[in-house]
Amino acid sequence: MAVGIFDSGLGGLTVLDAVASRLPDVDFAYFADSAHAPYGVRDADDVYELTTAAVARLFDHGCDLVILACNTASAAALRRMQESWVPEGKRVLGVFVPLIEALTERQWGDNSPPREVAVKHVALFATPATVSSRAFQRELAFRAIGVDVEAQSCGGVVDAIEEGDTILAEALVRSHVDALKRKMPHPEAAILGCTHYPLMQETFQAALGPDVAVYSQANLVAESLADYLVRHPGMTGGGGPAFYTTGHPGRVSDRATQFLRRRVQFQPA
Ligand code: DGL
Repeated sequence: MAVGIFDSGLGGLTVLDAVASRLPDVDFAYFADSAHAPYGVRDADDVYELTTAAVARLFDHGCDLVILACNTASAAALRRMQESWVPEGKRVLGVFVPLIEALTERQWGDNSPPREVAVKHVALFATPATVSSRAFQRELAFRAIGVDVEAQSCGGVVDAIEEGDTILAEALVRSHVDALKRKMPHPEAAILGCTHYPLMQETFQAALGPDVAVYSQANLVAESLADYLVRHPGMTGGGGPAFYTTGHPGRVSDRATQFLRRRVQFQPA
């Protein structure tokens, strides 16, 4: 069974790239729900329905383990899925916790009480749905005290990336960083809390300045998945790599190829 990687669209490819190079012997099946992207402007019920439908398709394709490489789905749907939907023998994991463990200097599974950490002023860039869920602040509060988080909802960025409009995406990133800086002039760290945003990482870093440490999830999730698979060796197997989309396979393949700078061929989900 391949390990499933799910996103509303192209953003999860940033995670796929990192996990595939960290775990070259594992096959991955990628699912882009392009017909319904962006998720970030939808309500929690809608995100839950779409995410469960997509993950069910990955289970049908033989995946036992699926990573929600989508913060919006991780924030709005994951807990509900884990509590009442995931079938026996299957697993669904999100992308939030590895990032927060890195920010709060914790090892996996360290459940000790929250404590003071080095960073005090953190900028969070995410979709409107992720920002309004406050899931990031909730997970952070379990692990750290005294951290001031200023969240900036980055409307329009995911749509521009999905459309392949890099110029618009860059302009939007700069204006969202300006808006954040008006609320928090000197963040020490910035979280790219949407898997689409690493595709614009250079623009975020340039707009934030060299003194701001930019955290993006791909490598953190790759490390955390490698660790998980050591503890759960039965969750992988053959199956071969595959790319599925609910959108137009030709168009999605072209955009993915543009962003990853290697040929990627999607097929209908
Ligand atoms: N890449 C997603 C995330 O991490 C999805 C964004 C969207 O569809 O709005 O939140």
